[in-house]
Amino acid sequence: MTRLAGKSVIITGAGSGIGRAATLLFAKEGARLIAVDRTEAVKEVAAEVKKAGGTAEALTADAGSEKDVIAFIDRALKDYGRLDAIWANAGVSGGLVPLADQTVEHWQEVLRVNLIGPFLAIKHSIPHMTRQGSGSIICTASVAGLKAGASGHPYGASKAGVISLVQTTAYSLSGTGVRINAVCPGLIETGMTKPVFDRAKERGTSDKIGQLNPLKRPGQPHELAAMGLFLASDEASYVNGQAIPVDGGLTASMPYTGKPI
Ligand SMILES: NC(=O)c1ccc[n+]([C@@H]2O[C@H](COP(=O)([O-])OP(=O)(O)OC[C@H]3O[C@@H](n4cnc5c(N)ncnc54)[C@H](O)[C@@H]3O)[C@@H](O)[C@H]2O)c1
Repeated sequence: MTRLAGKSVIITGAGSGIGRAATLLFAKEGARLIAVDRTEAVKEVAAEVKKAGGTAEALTADAGSEKDVIAFIDRALKDYGRLDAIWANAGVSGGLVPLADQTVEHWQEVLRVNLIGPFLAIKHSIPHMTRQGSGSIICTASVAGLKAGASGHPYGASKAGVISLVQTTAYSLSGTGVRINAVCPGLIETGMTKPVFDRAKERGTSDKIGQLNPLKRPGQPHELAAMGLFLASDEASYVNGQAIPVDGGLTASMPYTGKPI
């Protein structure tokens, strides 16, 4: 369990779902973490890490605020002396609002957290990582950034923006030794999707969830954490500029009717 031994890592959205699972897994693999979330739940996650003998400090902060992003990156440098990886994972769904009812304020908030948040994480970690000559930046996008049909408009646009940001930034970082990639989760059982799972439970249709992908099930947070672990580790030393779906195969096919061939 030493795939991230001694590495200094920041994870945002660490209080729940994918970020929580990643914090616990990265700590088991030897990372020293700054776990960031806007909710106090992140304190319990850091406490769980410490109880298991790992290293994690919790910070309540807004991942879409430049002042807060500067503060949590400074904290990693102060506590651990370097920054090896940052996973800009915090996100909001924005709900499903009919197009005609969407307001500019609604769009601004979804874009602020989901797209400007990763931009700020990138902007403020780059100087330290380029100085070191190494680093891994991970951003959580979504299958909703690749195709329609998985979210509302602002969310899909924000995640498509994350993918573009990652691709463009990989080239901005040419020759620095710093890598950047996006993960694109499919339907994962987390706090964000709890209403979907709760509704299905009420209706007795839980077995219908996740049936569109060839694995015929929703994903679990630890399955995303495992991809993040790979990308943060030196094992991914030649993986750069990619948007990697972790979706049970959902985006591998065009929509089709009838039986698979
Ligand atoms: N669950 C899915 O099916 C799914 C699918 C595709 C993409 N994603 C993405 O995965 C990421 C993680 O979400 P999740 O599914 O684990 O949901 P989640 O709601 O369980 O966790 C998200 C965490 O982010 C935190 N957060 C939200 N806004 C924040 C902010 N401004 N500053 C700091 N923290 C903030 C929340 O408090 C929460 O703890 C998000 O970017 C989400 O868009 C999720």
